[in-house]
Parts: sequence; C-alpha cells; structure tokens
Amino acid sequence: MPYAHITGWGMAVPKKVLTNDDLSKMVDTNDQWIREMTGIRERRIAVEGQTTSVLGLEASVKALQIANLAPTELDLIICATSSPDYIFPSTACIIQDRLGASKAGGFDLFAACTGFIYALNMGAQAVRSGSVKNVLVVGAETLSRYIDWTDRSTCILFGDGAGAFVLQSSEVPGGIMGAVLHSDGSGGDLLSIPGGGSAHPASEQTVRDGMHFLHMNGKEVFRFATRVMVQATDEATKATGWGVKDLDLIIPHQANYRIIDAAARGLKLPIEKFMVNLERYGNTSTASIPIATVEAAHAGRLKVGDKVVFVGFGAGLTWGAIAVEWTGARPIQHEVHPEWYRPWARVRSILLRLWRWVEGILFGRNS
Ligand code: ACO
Repeated sequence: MPYAHITGWGMAVPKKVLTNDDLSKMVDTNDQWIREMTGIRERRIAVEGQTTSVLGLEASVKALQIANLAPTELDLIICATSSPDYIFPSTACIIQDRLGASKAGGFDLFAACTGFIYALNMGAQAVRSGSVKNVLVVGAETLSRYIDWTDRSTCILFGDGAGAFVLQSSEVPGGIMGAVLHSDGSGGDLLSIPGGGSAHPASEQTVRDGMHFLHMNGKEVFRFATRVMVQATDEATKATGWGVKDLDLIIPHQANYRIIDAAARGLKLPIEKFMVNLERYGNTSTASIPIATVEAAHAGRLKVGDKVVFVGFGAGLTWGAIAVEWTGARPIQHEVHPEWYRPWARVRSILLRLWRWVEGILFGRNS
C-alpha cells in the first residue's frame, strides 16, 4: 500500500489587519479582555473581491511550488470550507480551473473548523488506496462575511485566510500514518449559520432575524473543545502505535489559547510542544491548521522524521486528529535543513533523498 506524504504547503492571508483596538471602536470590548480570554491580538480580513477561492488559489500555488509539481499532475482537489464562494459550483472547481489542473477532480468538504482534518484524511485515503497519486488539499475561509459585526461574543474570534497541502504517493514509509474522525450532531445548535439552507431558505425574514450570521454558544463549545482535543490527540497517536510523549509537535486548530493550554495540560505535555499563531490570525477555521503548519515549517519547527499530530474541532459537532511522520518536501528544495544538525535525522534524510532519486529514475520523475 503506498504512503501519502505531505510534499508541499502554502498559505495566504489578506493584507488588511483588524486589531483588538480597531474592534473596540466597533463593539463594547477591549484589547485586554480579548487577549486574556482568547490570546488573539489581531486578525486578517478579506477585502471586496478577495473571495475564499482567491485565497485558496494563492495558498495552492505556493504549495505546488514547494512540491515542485505542475497543476496538470494533480488527480484530485479537495477544498474544506465553511464559507465557499457559492453553494455551487464548488470552490474546489474554481481553484481547479484557475490553476489549470486539467486532469483533477474537485469537490468541497463541509466539516466546519475540523474540515481540514477530514479533507486531509480523505485525500490520504485516496492516495493510499492507489486510485490517485497527487492530491491538493485546501482549507480556505472568508468567515468575516458571515460574522455579525455588532455581536461582541463572536466578532472578536474569527479571521480570513487559506492554507494548502500537496499529498503525494510514495513507497517510502512516512506521511499520514493514522487518523480519527468523530461527529456528534446532537450538538449542532451550539455553533451554526442557521439561514440560507433548505431548512431556512434566504428571505427578508431570515435576513431581518440575523440567520445568515454565525451563532455560537461559546461556553459550551469551549467545554466540548477542551475535552475532544485531548481525546482525539490521544486516539490518533495510539492508532499509529506511538505514545503521546513521543510527539515532537502538535498543530492544533487555532481557536483560543486557553483551549490549547487546557489540551496541553490534559495531555501532560509542555505548551512548547504546541504550535500557536492565533495571536496574529484569530480563528481562520479550516485554514488554521495548514497556516500554522506553514509557519512551523518556516520557523524550523518541523524536521524530517518528526512525529506530528494535527488536531481540530468545530461545528457539527465534529472533531478529529491526524498523526503524521513529517518527511519534508519532495524533491527537497532547501539547501540547508535544520535537521542536518541531528545525526540520526541526517542519516535518515540522506537515505530518503537517495531513495527518492532512485524512485525518480525508476518511475521517470527525475526527467
Ligand atoms: N469583550 C468584553 N467582554 C465580553 C466580550 C467581549 N468581546 N464578550 C463577552 N464579554 C463579557 C460577557 O458579557 C460576560 O460579562 P458578564 O459576566 O458581566 O455577564 C463576560 O465577558 C464573560 O462572557 P462569556 O461569554 O461567559 O465568556 P467565556 O468565558 O465563555 O469566553 C469565549 C468567551 C472567549 C468566546 C469562549 O467561550 C470561547 O472561546 N469559546 C470557544 C469558541 C470557539 O472556539 N469557537 C470556534 C469553534 S470552531 C468552528 O467550527 C467555527
């Protein structure tokens, strides 16, 4: 069975920054409350015309560049989003067209903020089944368009952005090693956008009642999140045959620093093992995990051979985690890798490159 490796990663965020002080001029809030209760300092907001597919496309191009893969080589594009450009056509198809990914199938996946975890697992399963070789997994959002900017309990939390991974098939062990996905629809009303679907089609009344805005029971979502982040991380780690203590890095959904801190305490791990960048972007929903991954890679916090867990939660309710053995870009693009300084990783890295070179000759990828 082939392995599904993450060989490319990219992110895109709007230039426009909305700080806590900016928000305090719009609603009754203040920088201190937001920082203490969430950890967020600022978030990015899409400007007019900057749609979910625009951000998703930018992140995808960067991910393909790192993977050194032409869009025409993609077999499948999965876009996880809660704020698609349209109900249909799918945002994945818009990205497919703009990339020129002429041979790829494409569809959107809805699992709210857990969407990227679901999409990554679906993409990896497609690769591991042998039915496809190259998959683009995108998490992209412009949730700012669904926020009631007069509701201080929600408008402080969210930001816009996109992230993308390229998944590629390889016989080399590594990449996506294990996953757990969960849902509990009985908690659906805790976090929802009630209007615009077949239950409450758009009408003057639904607009008047604010049904097209995101509604949330923050306290209950907080309670749920702290419980499932620990549970899912533990399950995915065990399913892979690892122990939680073996993990080098956990990249959680970036919703609230206190949720991540509670997860760290629940797992008895130091907070330093968690990638946190929500102070600059807020909660970007499906985009938060790939954006945090890109920044972890740039900061040298992801090394070849590292054991990593992605873990998320969101509306549905949904939650899940994916265990990954990080194998880096293929072909390796950067001349100097931080892992070079770790002897065992250095040997492994040399063997991995050698194998990729041989694999390239065998399967004609080096031409
Ligand atoms: N600024 C200042 N004060 C505020 C604000 C604000 N923005 N919002 C609420 N308050 C006040 C409340 O009115 C309340 O005042 P009171 O005690 O005088 O009544 C007090 O602060 C506490 O408010 P709570 O809403 O009870 O605060 P809570 O401890 O629940 O924290 C928060 C709120 C930060 C939103 C928290 O509940 C949370 O993070 N929940 C999880 C949310 C989340 O992660 N959602 C994303 C899910 S992912 C997806 O699928 C989209």
